Amino acid sequence: MAKRSPESVSARIDELKQLIDHHRRRYHQLDDPEISDAEFDDLVREMSSLAASLPDDQAAPLVEGVGSQPSPLFAPVLHHTAMLSLDNVFDDDELAAWGRRVERLVEGATDALVCELKIDGIAVSLRYVGGRLAQAATRGDGRVGEDVTRNIRTVGAIPERLAGRQVPELVELRGELYMPVAAFEQLNQRASDAGQRTFANPRNAAGGSLRQKDPSITASRELAFWCHQLSSLGEAPLPPTHSEGLALMGDLGLPVNPEIERAVGLDRAAEYCHRWQRDRHSIPYDVDGAVIKVDRLSDRAELGATSHAPRWAIAHKFPPEERTTRLERIMVSIGKSGKATPFAVLDPVSVGGSTVGLATLHNESQVKSKDVRPGDMVVVRKAGDVIPEVVGPVLSARQPGLPEWQFPTACPACGGELVRVDGEADTFCTNVHCPAQRLQRIVHYASRAAMDIEGLGESRVAQLVDAGLVSDAGDLYRLQFEHLLPLDGFGRVSAANLVSAIDRSRQRPLHNVLFALAIPHLGATGSRLLATELGSLDRIAAADVATLAAVGGIGPKIAESVVRFFSFPSNAELLEKLRVAGVATQSEQPPPVEKTLGGMSVVVTGTLGSYSRDEAEEAIKARGGRSPGSVSARTTVVVAGESPGVSKLSRADELGVPVVDEEGFRHLLETGSLPERAHQEKPG
Ligand code: IVH
Repeated sequence: MAKRSPESVSARIDELKQLIDHHRRRYHQLDDPEISDAEFDDLVREMSSLAASLPDDQAAPLVEGVGSQPSPLFAPVLHHTAMLSLDNVFDDDELAAWGRRVERLVEGATDALVCELKIDGIAVSLRYVGGRLAQAATRGDGRVGEDVTRNIRTVGAIPERLAGRQVPELVELRGELYMPVAAFEQLNQRASDAGQRTFANPRNAAGGSLRQKDPSITASRELAFWCHQLSSLGEAPLPPTHSEGLALMGDLGLPVNPEIERAVGLDRAAEYCHRWQRDRHSIPYDVDGAVIKVDRLSDRAELGATSHAPRWAIAHKFPPEERTTRLERIMVSIGKSGKATPFAVLDPVSVGGSTVGLATLHNESQVKSKDVRPGDMVVVRKAGDVIPEVVGPVLSARQPGLPEWQFPTACPACGGELVRVDGEADTFCTNVHCPAQRLQRIVHYASRAAMDIEGLGESRVAQLVDAGLVSDAGDLYRLQFEHLLPLDGFGRVSAANLVSAIDRSRQRPLHNVLFALAIPHLGATGSRLLATELGSLDRIAAADVATLAAVGGIGPKIAESVVRFFSFPSNAELLEKLRVAGVATQSEQPPPVEKTLGGMSVVVTGTLGSYSRDEAEEAIKARGGRSPGSVSARTTVVVAGESPGVSKLSRADELGVPVVDEEGFRHLLETGSLPERAHQEKPG
């Protein structure tokens, strides 16, 4: 970047100050932000980097302002200890740099770390006096917050009284109030049905629900809470480590997040961040990062804090899942069964960890109800593996007179009529010979969940169709190395790889073959059911509606669609081609597993070397056992992998539930009994 003159730095700083203040107010006080978190972070980052070029006394006030002015709706509360914010890092290098800074100041401090999820909610501090909830306050500007005690009393997850025999006289703690995603969606659905304003995301919904003059409104909203910091026990000393503080809060009956883990060294903490960046949608609430904290309070005291954030903790932010960008135009794509799906062509933005230039708009009604128009600035969301979507327009940025978009009446691929049946959401191209449909059927055939032909994506399929080499999936098996070599973009290696990938697909199991045929309404699950029950493609193709619908999980709509599919001569031809090509048309039954775990309840925590979480659960269920998410008196055994959940282990310890490692888990799966050495102490 070109170096700015001092005048332009100071002008930009003024501008940023105003922007940041404005957006802080929208976010903290009005629960109605105009820009995404990522864009806000960008502003703050730009401010910090400009402030770095100024002398310290001028820079400090610029980056200070944590939170916002308290709202006049609630009585002010002075925080005994300032409620600081957290510094952010956005990648591994920045995290490593934080670790080095910490080590430079206090050697060995990163040997004992605690990794937590960064809950995307509202910071609330709680004070218990004599075991009873005495005060709850928001962060406000960090020094003065809002007294929200009456509203917080309505939150079921926050106990009115602390539990246990030895309750300290004074307990002060900090945590995050949040709204589970499902509750947020229901709330918004009800609001939109009633024509009321909806919330942009669960965090704003939590904030809006908390900041109500009338606590009965807060009570009607589903809110939850996770504690993340024991701040004071009054005169009594705090436990020497943060993890013991968390355990103490758990013992007092306060909700402590079960995904918190201890980590030895920064590499382990980085692994935690990676794992949760990947798995962030496996839990029922939003998280926007992970927080890594130094565990020993003595180290923390040495490290201290800057004016706005402690040096002993760092937030590793996940890539943003929402961004605003310009909607250039709306186009329509034709799917494998003729469905016409409108999609947005966007000015490309980096969101959800990748660059997004196209996003789905689902169907005509969605375009209407979202009221997005070509030329709008729109919010784009890409969450996890989900297809990127346009959430809605930024109405305040719309040019006056921007025309609405009209759904086309002709198929963009074949010119045939596009038909929308009354009462149905989707529009279809009804021409079965439509080249776009044909292409998409082959693309689907090759896709990972179907025949898994690596290297055969949409552009390659289009190339093969254009070259006249294939007109349906059956033709793929006639392709030879020599056919591919002259095509653009193919070399000897890629041509040979594609031929062998196609060859390998002959061995795909029957349920994948069935799914690959792209029979309307028949998904992967239905294909599995039919393949298991009927055992061969011939039997499925010959079955009538009654036979198919008699298979558990197959409704009449799917059954009719399957019969209709096989009644077309072109599909019978396709089947014949597949059979001749030697594609598997019979199902092979896997050997049955013994029900070794009947009646047992096996809780898995931490990372196992040779099983993913899902695989471990499947293995337990396949053997007749249950695998709940938490430890109770009914738990038979806890399986602890790497970095197990602290609270699960301490609960197992309390209840005397045995804990086994991965080796013990294998033994258990095989024999249904615990290994001799099943221990009850915490590993590590
Ligand atoms: S620790 C002094 N731990 O993120 C540090 N904060 O962006 C106290 N947050 O103000 C905060 N999850 O409201 C901490 N596991 C967690 C958190 C967490 C969410 C919030 C918190 C904080 C904000 C900073």
